[in-house]
Amino acid sequence: MAKLIGNTDFIDMPVFIKGKVRDVYDLGDKLLIIVTDRISAFDVIFPNLIPNKGKVLNSISEFWFNYTSDIIGNHMITTDVSKYPSGLSKFKEELQGRSMLVNKVDMVKAECIVRGYLEGSGLKEYNNTGSICQIKLPSGLKQADKLPEPIFTPSTKENEGHDINVSIEGLSDKIGVELATQLRDASIALYNKVSAYAESKGLILADTKFEFGMFNGKLVVADEMFTPDSSRFWDKNEYEPGRAQKSFDKQYLREYLESITWDKQPPAPVLPEEIVEKTASKYMDAYERITGKKI
Ligand SMILES: Nc1ncnc2c1ncn2[C@@H]1O[C@H](COP(=O)(O)OP(=O)(O)OP(=O)(O)O)[C@@H](O)[C@H]1O
Ligand SMILES: [Mg+2]
Repeated sequence: MAKLIGNTDFIDMPVFIKGKVRDVYDLGDKLLIIVTDRISAFDVIFPNLIPNKGKVLNSISEFWFNYTSDIIGNHMITTDVSKYPSGLSKFKEELQGRSMLVNKVDMVKAECIVRGYLEGSGLKEYNNTGSICQIKLPSGLKQADKLPEPIFTPSTKENEGHDINVSIEGLSDKIGVELATQLRDASIALYNKVSAYAESKGLILADTKFEFGMFNGKLVVADEMFTPDSSRFWDKNEYEPGRAQKSFDKQYLREYLESITWDKQPPAPVLPEEIVEKTASKYMDAYERITGKKI
């Protein structure tokens, strides 16, 4: 079986950022994004690694970057390690499949969220105000209901504390009306194309988050794209509005964590082998359904 990767300290290059799941290295005008097999839930990283998770997430992003490049360009250069800058080729075994060389871009300080269904923070805001990001919605919608049309509900990236939901006008005040409109139009077009494709594979794309950046004067998609980590995917066969839907990938883990006495504060408990295996197979299942390929 392929090697599990939980840390990337073997890479002797400056760190750009280490997130909960991804380790990003700074190559000057490029970045090397490595997706590890780490898993987090409730913002806490677990001691177990999930077999193939890094490859699955990386390959899903790669698939969507290719699939959507007719709508908008993106930061991806290659996932072929032999084309990475020299010095990295000796890590081919560790990096192939789970990493991506990308152009470093000037990130737009906005989280671009599109919602096609009512869930998460959108549901909370709707229940309190009848709107999301000042977009008025019909009354009487239930949890997980499909919205009349997909809506753009951005939030501003705050360096400290939580992101703040804003209206398109609020976003325009921060970054200019032209760029805000471009972000909205691109986000909605991306959601429409990908949600139609996902449906044909038996998956509902409830909502998703993009990050964009400027590269050579053009707006491009950066970060990750339509992964289970940045999107809510539901199984179409089990969809039933009026209740919480089972998340496609992390459901077993979340249900298990609710069933044990853990206060959701670090340190995270060691997961039983069964939970690790089921989670791994769900990630694989998502990958196979989306790409039609096996890892
Ligand atoms: N092409 C790019 N150029 C510049 N910055 C990028 C590019 N792609 C992604 N980024 C930035 O790299 C960072 C990746 O961090 P990552 O998402 O792994 O960790 P995090 O957001 O800090 O934590 P979490 O694990 O909760 O997501 C983000 O801040 C993202 O905006
Ligand atoms: Mg992130």
